[in-house]
Order: sequence, then structure tokens, then C-alpha cells
Amino acid sequence: MSYSRRQFLVYAGLGTYAALRDPAAAASAPEFPLRRRKGKAPGFKPVSPSAEDALRVPDGFRVDLVAAWKDPLGVAGPSGAEQFGFNADFIAYFPVDSLTGGKNPNEGLLWVNHEYPNPLFVSGYRGTGTKTEAQILAEKACVGGSVIHVKREGGRWRHVPGGKHTRRFTAAYPAFSVTGPAGKVIPQVYGTLANCSGGRTPWSTALSCEENFQDYNSTALFGMRWSDVSGQQLDERHYGWVVEVDPFGELPPMKHSALGRFSHENTAWRLGPTGRLVVYMGDDAQDQYLYKFVSAGSYRAGASRAEQRKLLTEGTLYAADFAAGKWLPLDLSRSKALRDAGFKDQADVLIRTREAAAAVKATPIDRPEDCEVHPLDGTLYVALTNNSKHGNVYGQIVRVVEDGDNPEGEGFRFEIFLAGGPQSGLACPDNLLFDRKGNLWVGCDISSRSVGKGPYEPFGNNGLFVVPTSGPSAGDAFQFASGPADAELTGPWFSENEETLFLSVQHPGEESPSLDKMTSHWPDGGNAVPRPAVVAITGFR
Ligand code: FEO
Ligand code: CA
Ligand code: CA
Ligand code: CA
Repeated sequence: MSYSRRQFLVYAGLGTYAALRDPAAAASAPEFPLRRRKGKAPGFKPVSPSAEDALRVPDGFRVDLVAAWKDPLGVAGPSGAEQFGFNADFIAYFPVDSLTGGKNPNEGLLWVNHEYPNPLFVSGYRGTGTKTEAQILAEKACVGGSVIHVKREGGRWRHVPGGKHTRRFTAAYPAFSVTGPAGKVIPQVYGTLANCSGGRTPWSTALSCEENFQDYNSTALFGMRWSDVSGQQLDERHYGWVVEVDPFGELPPMKHSALGRFSHENTAWRLGPTGRLVVYMGDDAQDQYLYKFVSAGSYRAGASRAEQRKLLTEGTLYAADFAAGKWLPLDLSRSKALRDAGFKDQADVLIRTREAAAAVKATPIDRPEDCEVHPLDGTLYVALTNNSKHGNVYGQIVRVVEDGDNPEGEGFRFEIFLAGGPQSGLACPDNLLFDRKGNLWVGCDISSRSVGKGPYEPFGNNGLFVVPTSGPSAGDAFQFASGPADAELTGPWFSENEETLFLSVQHPGEESPSLDKMTSHWPDGGNAVPRPAVVAITGFR
């Protein structure tokens, strides 16, 4: 058997020299075994990649189903009995005694984002024809967020319906006032949607990030589009903000325009040397930017929550220039480039943040998903999930180090902490979370249509991984969980004592072509329609 030059280059490039020597071996394709590390995983025996329609966790851990789509919340909202929303994403746990400084690890409130509907399951829309008003209302009602009351009794977590603070946020309600410069143009908006990941503030509120708001005016996502009945497009300027919600209901909900408008993934904060609140944020789209917001005022621990939240209303928004290692201010009074680009005032800059970042020549990067601040050294880890425009199919995690360890400053350096691929054992890093020892928890998001196919074949279903950041296993990925068919494990969040990991199982069965051919029946089994849900995992020591 002879080899063409092209075949030779392919094989040589992949390092399979044996194929050249052994004609029989040439018939089989070169293989890429996952090179997962043999070192010591932090506190568990890793699970294997799996294609099973099940949530798998290591032996010795317990999974409690806390709340799933359609579960009754035991409260009435503006349109009747409220239900837990669809496609659970970000989760933040608030100890029930948070406002008096308590850290109750066994009873609290969960804020949960509900990112987007799957019309097949939610409204029965099959992707062709015009949506009815009832279908659009069903879809609007299933997104936004939920505040639910949860409790651990006898070692088992459960949802307590009808809690004092239990309520829903949907695409229709409540009203949000818009703070900061864009509030002069758009003072108030109704509802929130596309709520992806988020954060928890030092004053015990949740930040919920509006991400792919543009999908609701188009048919790109499962034939979404809510303008079929009214003929009216959503005013996209009402979405794409960081939304602040007080789970305890003391403070009114707000959208903070000073943090910019784009496909917000999440927020991660740090206090600077003069007490300014620094909030890091990614824009999850191909060739978009990494941002940080530096508050004008300083954090005062003894101030009221209403006073503390004002930190998010005024400050400087920066976009990152990775080539120069500079944070570029998106401030009309400081930037000639913004004035030359025709931005008329600071509200205009914030409403069109992406265009402003492009005008100052920030660096387009590979879909920045979650970012998190390392609890021990203050450096920022950013998941760049992938970028098909550049053939980056596996993504990477970047570590950003502020000059002089000063997050209020305007200079930084960076390195690649982990490159996705068979050599590291994970692909498409997305949600990040640090435990207090500094281990990085990484939820992977291989798109459901690509799971188990092509370059993603060895990885199996999407999983959750633990990557130590120091010691002999630093940078090695250990798999902690494997999700059901088509699902992504999102929103990981530890209780304060780290005995419980809350986790969302998002979009199980998303690739189902019809209700007769569902690809997942998680969590109910049998022939059930799959239901996105929040689980609590215990067994940590
Ligand atoms: Fe909704 Fe960027 O993930
Ligand atoms: Ca994400
Ligand atoms: Ca996170
Ligand atoms: Ca993703």
C-alpha cells in the first residue's frame, strides 16, 4: 500500500508513525485517547466519560433533586400559580440568616436563573408556522429566575414551597428601574430574559446576567421569536444588562447600565486597595471582549444594603487589550476614539458597549464564558469556551494577573492556564467556580448537537471537572460528574461550609426531534419529558 503525500502529512502530523511501518495499522484511524491524569483527585474517585442518560457522581456522594421545571412554587404571581422555570442555569445560595451575618449551611434561599425555553417541551411549538399568543406566554413565563426556599433535614435537601420570599421573575415581570447613564434613556423596563450565569454581591443580592437576548427576536434558536402575534420586536435595549435582585425582597430589582450592555455571561468581583468594587465580566460571543467595571465609590462594610448597592451605579467600564496588557476605559470624556466614532453621550456608549469596545480596539477573544477570582491569590480565571470562526474547537482557560496585584489599575498580564482537548481531558470550559482551597471547578459545554461527535467523540456527555491550581496535580482535570443526554451542568455553587454543591442540569434532551423521539427522560425516567432541574450534591469532607 502506498501513501499519498497528503496521507503522510496527516499521519505524521498526528504522530502516528507506526502506521507508516505497519500497513495493517494504516487501515485504522489514528486515535486520541483522553490523557486524564493519574494523580490524586481532590477527595473523590473520578467518574468516567459516559453517554448514559444519567447524572453520575463519584461513589460516596448523594444527589437530591431539589427543584425541577414545572414544580409548583406554592405562591401566586401576576398570572396565577407560579412554577419553577425552565433551563435552570446560575445558582446562588443565600443562608436564611444572611442579613444578620449568619451562615446557616442547612437552610437558605436559592436564586436560580432560567436561561431560555425549548418550545417543543414548553409551548408545544414545532418550529414551523406562526406561534399562538398562548405559546408565547408559556415561553415568556418559563424564563427569568426563581427565588426558592430550600432546607436540609435528615441529611436530605428539599424545596420548601410557599416560602415567605419565594417568587418568580419572568420575561413579563416585575418592573426593573435602570440605574446609571442609560437610565436617562430607558428609565424602566419590564421583565428579564436570557439569564445565563451571574454572581452574588457582598451585600447578599444576586446578579443575574442577560445573555443571548437577540434570540428572542429571531428564529435562530429553536424557532424562538416572540413577535409572531403582536408583530412587535422586543426592544433589545431593554436586555443585555446585569440585573440585581434581592432574594430577601428588601431592595427593588434593578438593571445596572454602568456595567455595559452585551451578552453578559457572569460577574466576578474583588475589592481593590482603596475599597472600590471591581467586577469582571465576559461577553459570550465569538470575537467579543473581556470587561471590568471599577466602582467610583468605595465599599463600606457597615453601610446599609441600599447604600452599598449604589457601587454598581457609577464607575468606569473597561475592555481588555490583551496585546498591550491594558484595560481601555469606555469613557467618552477620556477617549478620543469613542468621540471620533460618533458616540453622543455615555448612555450611548453603554447601550452599544460592543461597538465602543471595538472603537477603542480592545482584543476580540474566543467566547468568554464564566470568569472567577482565585480565592487565595486574587488572579482572574476566564473560560474561553471555543471559537469555530478560528477552528478553536476545545477552548482554553486564561489566567489574568493585574499589575501590582491592583484590580483598580489599568495594566495586566496573562497566561494560558489550561488548553482544552484530549491532552487535558476536557473540552469547551464554561461555568467556573473556586472552592476555598483554590481548586477550580469547571462545567463543560460541548454544544448538545456536537456531544460525542467528531472532535468531541472521546469526551462523552458534558461533565463537571475539578482542576487543582497548585501542587503536583496543578492544571490536571479530574471528572466529578457526567450529565444526562444533551445536558450541560451549569451554575455550580457551594454552600458556605462546602458540604453541599448545588448544580443545575440544563437542557437534558435538547436534541429531541419530537415528543415521540426524546433523547432524554431525565430525571423522571420512563417515557417522561425531560425536565431541567437543580440538584444538591452532598458527601464532601
Ligand atoms: Fe449561557 Fe454563555 O452561556
Ligand atoms: Ca455559560
Ligand atoms: Ca461561576
Ligand atoms: Ca456555553
